[in-house]
Amino acid sequence: MTESLTIRRPDDWHVHLRDGDMLHGVARHTAVQFARAIVMPNLSPPVTTTEAARAYRSRIVDALSKGTAFEPLMTAYLTDDTDPADLARGKAEGVLTAAKLYPANATTNSAHGVTDIGNLAPVFAAMEEAGLVLCVHGEVTEAHVDVFDREAEFIERHLSQIVRNFPGLKVVLEHITTREGVEFVEAAGPNVAGTITPQHLHINRNAMLVGGIRPHAYCLPVAKREVHRLALRKAATGGGAKFFLGTDSAPHSKDAKESACGCAGIFNAPFALESYVQVFDEEDALRHFEQFASLAGPAFYGLPANTDMVTLERADQVVPDTIDAAGTPVVPFHAGETLRWRLVA
Ligand code: NCD
Ligand code: ZN
Repeated sequence: MTESLTIRRPDDWHVHLRDGDMLHGVARHTAVQFARAIVMPNLSPPVTTTEAARAYRSRIVDALSKGTAFEPLMTAYLTDDTDPADLARGKAEGVLTAAKLYPANATTNSAHGVTDIGNLAPVFAAMEEAGLVLCVHGEVTEAHVDVFDREAEFIERHLSQIVRNFPGLKVVLEHITTREGVEFVEAAGPNVAGTITPQHLHINRNAMLVGGIRPHAYCLPVAKREVHRLALRKAATGGGAKFFLGTDSAPHSKDAKESACGCAGIFNAPFALESYVQVFDEEDALRHFEQFASLAGPAFYGLPANTDMVTLERADQVVPDTIDAAGTPVVPFHAGETLRWRLVA
């Protein structure tokens, strides 16, 4: 049995670091595990311009202890009013790495999202030209569409068109949760990739609904049937270039989750690598973990892989029931469970 695994330091290609006290409480958990992270712009108000992204990047760096080797990769939140020239400038000035498409009202703080994707053609054209990656929250938001069908319908109605119309645009279908998502990414060209969260590899929708309603297993896109989880596990552990690590760690206070209308989001940052590596171990695919966690993402984004190494070892650790985020209790993914691996260096 493999007892330890040493790989290049991984990056997180999708994380919510929040702002203010919560940022101060959670950022270090990501910085301990990852060298870089694509930071989501869904603050309130959202980060919609190069200037706002530059300021947010400074707040993230300031929230970490001096000398922490962590690079936030910034994103701009697309709206109906996004200025294509501002995005191009943000990329040229080294501020922006990607822009994020939230269909309006898809999820937490997305009320400013895009109401008609068709109107974004000039924005996508400028991004294609500038080499700015498009990160996509792939769910339709019409009230009549069942929440479990929203990803597949988005792919069919919107994503396939974007990819067809802008063949040079790099597109990441984020936090994929369905077999349809896996199949779409696999069938598309090399400019299309997908990120996969730890929770969608570990749980299906029963985890949310059997034996009582479990708000800490609720995130968006929502976990689906077992057949989808199995497709995601196969995609993540297969060693290919198209699927890579993106935690979608999305902290909310314990109170905001345990409510009559609980927030969507799972806080997985503190044990993200331990959670992922356990899946690779269970699938007998530890040899592919470095590709998923540390190599495929940088290759897709056109960035060098990290040169420093981290080691995970087989050792049990119990995940705490709550984690203090600068005075706010947050319940982590796997709370109260025993994980079989530990990050040692
Ligand atoms: C995210 C959040 O809380 O910001 N929630 C989530 O369930 N993933 C928003 C998002 O990425 O959808
Ligand atoms: Zn997210």
